[in-house]
Amino acid sequence: MLKDKHVTLYVSGGIAVYKALGVVRELVKAKAQVQVVMTEAAQRFVTPLTFATLSQRPVLTDNFSAQSSSDDFIPHIKLARWTDLAIILPATANIIGKIANGIADDLATTTLLATAAPKIVFPAMNTTMWENPAVQKNLRTLDLMDMTVIEPASGFLAEGEIGKGRLPELTNIMVEIYKTFTKPVLAGTNVVVTAGGTKEAIDPVRFIGNKSSGKMGIALANVAADMGAHVTLISTVHDPISSPNIEEVHVSTAIEMQKKLEEVFPINDVLVMAAAVSDFRPVHQADQKIKKNNDQDIYTINLQKNPDILKEISKKKTNQFIVGFAAETENLIPYAQKKLKEKNVDMILANDVSKTGSGFNVDTNEITVIQPEKDPVTWPLMSKSDVAAKFWEYYQNNVK
Ligand code: CTP
Repeated sequence: MLKDKHVTLYVSGGIAVYKALGVVRELVKAKAQVQVVMTEAAQRFVTPLTFATLSQRPVLTDNFSAQSSSDDFIPHIKLARWTDLAIILPATANIIGKIANGIADDLATTTLLATAAPKIVFPAMNTTMWENPAVQKNLRTLDLMDMTVIEPASGFLAEGEIGKGRLPELTNIMVEIYKTFTKPVLAGTNVVVTAGGTKEAIDPVRFIGNKSSGKMGIALANVAADMGAHVTLISTVHDPISSPNIEEVHVSTAIEMQKKLEEVFPINDVLVMAAAVSDFRPVHQADQKIKKNNDQDIYTINLQKNPDILKEISKKKTNQFIVGFAAETENLIPYAQKKLKEKNVDMILANDVSKTGSGFNVDTNEITVIQPEKDPVTWPLMSKSDVAAKFWEYYQNNVK
């Protein structure tokens, strides 16, 4: 979504400046083109060189440096036109006040005044300053000017107090940035996604599990929600990123997952079964912790087959689009094609979990899409968020 997008990051001077470095890194990782503009105060916290190194572009600091580093006669207008999205992070009370009142006394505020692109403001300041009526009035003005103001988070502030005023966590900042590039094309669509590995209890402290982190399912849920879908996320892992469009249900075992899925399946349009369901569970779960015996070296746990949730639910299909995953370590395409048929689903997203950068517990995936009567299509290795975006884009264009 961010690939080749022109993002201008305005950094004003507060202790949270260092967090803007993480944002630049994420934007560059997502292949956006990032131009950093720093106010004079911001440069006292972090040098422009650090931002320039991360953004792979010279940082613009004042009208004079911008002019001398550019061929353009009026660089602030050029930068304003170049920008697809302007982010002000951290936004101090000072820069908020200037923008709200049309003051243009440095490159940052001058360019912002000339920029028609969407703007996201991430305020970060001391709680008392945040609550100050003048600051609140200015924030309301930004709202009236159609800027998106992201409320600061609560927690420890630089002054050692606890209160509201911190920048949100990096992942939440990125969610807000992604949102500005997504249209609610899935509004009205109900989606259920399962995520994470199931945990089958042996006793109160031990379980049979697998290496799944839940990242793929969570990415699918987040992107669908950002595109306007209502998402039921049935997950064994809890994820801090939440959208009002996501209803998260926490489960642990395959049986619990199946029960919840059966309940919500009829009211959904799409099922994406990204969970790594344990195929077996212990026949007996001990009520108390199993103690080791000094005379015994070998222990046996009898296992019982779990239901194949996907196979069973697809028998109840009315008009849902059903997607399964296939985690393989060999014969990827034939095994995935077998699962497509046996589980009677509309699509299998197959991945070779033995490959570096693909499958369990990593942030990337290489997916081969298997569909009935179609040739398999392999997508290049990409981040799980990009896989999710590509999948929902495909759904939107070809299925919906
Ligand atoms: N699945 C399921 N219930 C199970 C096992 C798997 O619903 N008991 C789903 C998974 O969520 C996934 C698909 O079936 O969408 C394929 O899962 P995978 O683990 O790749 O294969 P299995 O069906 O378990 O078969 P095998 O372990 O033999 O590869």
